Amino acid sequence: MKTILKILLVIITIQLSNAQNNIIPVPVSFKSNDSFFTFDNTVQIKIQSEDEKVIQYAENFISLLKEKGFQLSSNNQKSKKTITIKLLKTLDSEMGNEGYNLKIDNNTISLSANKPAGIFNGFQTLRQLFTPKFEQNNQKLSTLTIEGCEIKDYPRFKWRGLMLDVSRHFFTVDEVKTYIDKMSQYKLNVFHWHLTDDEGWRIEIKSLPKLTEVGAWRVERFGAFGKSRPYPKPHEKATYGGFYTQEQIKDVVKYAAERNITIVPEIDMPGHSMAALAAYPELSTKKEPKFVSPGVKFSEWYGNGKFKMLIENTLNPADENVYDFVDKVFTEVAQLFPGDYIHMGGDEAYNGYWEEDKDVQSFMKEHNIADGKELQSYFVKRVEKIISSKGKKLIGWDEILEGGLADEATVMSWRGMKGGIEAAKLGHDVVMTPTTFAYLDYTQGDYSVENKVYADLSLETCYSFEPVPDTVDSKFILGGQGNLWAEKVPTMPFAFYMTYPRAMALSETFWSPKTLKNWASFINRVENHFTRFDNANLNISKAVLDPIITIYEQNGKLMCELKNSIPNTEIFYTINNTYPAKFGLKYTGPFEIPEGDLSLHTQTFRNGIAIGRPLKVDRTDLEKRVKK
Ligand code: ACM
Repeated sequence: MKTILKILLVIITIQLSNAQNNIIPVPVSFKSNDSFFTFDNTVQIKIQSEDEKVIQYAENFISLLKEKGFQLSSNNQKSKKTITIKLLKTLDSEMGNEGYNLKIDNNTISLSANKPAGIFNGFQTLRQLFTPKFEQNNQKLSTLTIEGCEIKDYPRFKWRGLMLDVSRHFFTVDEVKTYIDKMSQYKLNVFHWHLTDDEGWRIEIKSLPKLTEVGAWRVERFGAFGKSRPYPKPHEKATYGGFYTQEQIKDVVKYAAERNITIVPEIDMPGHSMAALAAYPELSTKKEPKFVSPGVKFSEWYGNGKFKMLIENTLNPADENVYDFVDKVFTEVAQLFPGDYIHMGGDEAYNGYWEEDKDVQSFMKEHNIADGKELQSYFVKRVEKIISSKGKKLIGWDEILEGGLADEATVMSWRGMKGGIEAAKLGHDVVMTPTTFAYLDYTQGDYSVENKVYADLSLETCYSFEPVPDTVDSKFILGGQGNLWAEKVPTMPFAFYMTYPRAMALSETFWSPKTLKNWASFINRVENHFTRFDNANLNISKAVLDPIITIYEQNGKLMCELKNSIPNTEIFYTINNTYPAKFGLKYTGPFEIPEGDLSLHTQTFRNGIAIGRPLKVDRTDLEKRVKK
């Protein structure tokens, strides 16, 4: 019997000794201590704090365990096992506001922190130490054991964000909450809510009711966004859309705060304002009636960031009524969102209509404004004054640098890192969110099974993001953010698919010490989180498991290279129109794709079991992929 017990213990130890590898983001320090804490119904929880937030975080944890079948008691004198939650009396200077200590041995779990946010984060780590079965919906567990360990953990950056665009597609309050809840589990702490754009105005502004009566609704269209969708017909009813009432916004703000998340609302201006102008066309230069765009093509892009708007979608910066409008909007926005920042957009504002308008031109002369960029800068500076008059700080996309940056502005660098570098060198705070590493709308796998967007971002590239360039003082880099633009994201499950696991890569970049970042370790842990998402029936992209197909020409032959960036796998393929790939050839090196009406079939396996999706690419498509 003893031997059986010993064997069992060894098996458990082997299974659990990987526990540290499951935590995302990887903690600052993790020491295993060869003990095991097993949950049962005698476990007592002692909340040694009067702090409301600490009590609430602990109560959330108690209910979570209850759902899984484990009832914690608050005063079981006979209990040998205790969970202690407390705020430190003497602050730990290393740990900051969001760090925590977590100690687990056979009989105790002790979670302590300087501040409630640290307690919240410690609970997220504790949850990830549980078996992936813990994430199964509506399932009670018969046993729950975690490996003993000692963790000290705190974040590298204070801004660890995700942006969700709710204009291009509308997401309900419950959907937004699901998004917020999941990001909090990865210790992300800023939810940037992109509330307005050409395709819909989503926040109730009581003093400007048409913004939501008109601006929140568009005619319904399907098909390629920004390409072939037909324009609205005369008198066609606008039925697609929605908006958040102020009560709903308050509810979401509270929900986020309960998860250590600050919401940064974005009201995008002076560009991206077609929905606002559909409601109040008098705020444009031409003052023409407009529709809320249902995703029609109304711009032309010439490369190098140059573009033309075929329909005016900018506010008129030379009109005082526009600043009254901005003031009304930000008065209400500032009252709804308790965070320090309001995002004013500032991106992709087209100057063409300003240049054509004689009132704008005389305004520019009068104010000694040389060109459209300076006029945009004038606008941003006025908006900055309005926002700071409401007790808030302005943040905007990196275009707000052009023509001169407003004194107190924080810059969100999206067109690469250069805007961020320039702003930091001018002594401004920066959030790094370059398209090349942080755009979650970009394609993450092979085009044969993924939507083609205008650019790609693999999980591995996303993980390689380093937010602090060598040439700047790191104190100006508040952190970073992933952005999910929703042109091609009509549902919340698909938003999850596009966000995860790349948001895990970003969470580790923003939280963990740079020296602990390691792709091999990360991808191992991600595979564990795939199971967690599967168990919770949440959508997550496993594109990283698929073969990466590279096609090139060599000596007049079409050659194919297959690889992936995960360990312990084999790739199988066929190039003779047979399938499945499992019964084809094991990939050992680049091979020729013969002439003819052929398709490549390929798939990733581990120990003979398919782990990636079957990919099929016709020869004609392969030819188009040739790397020059
Ligand atoms: C942006 O992607 N237009 C900020």
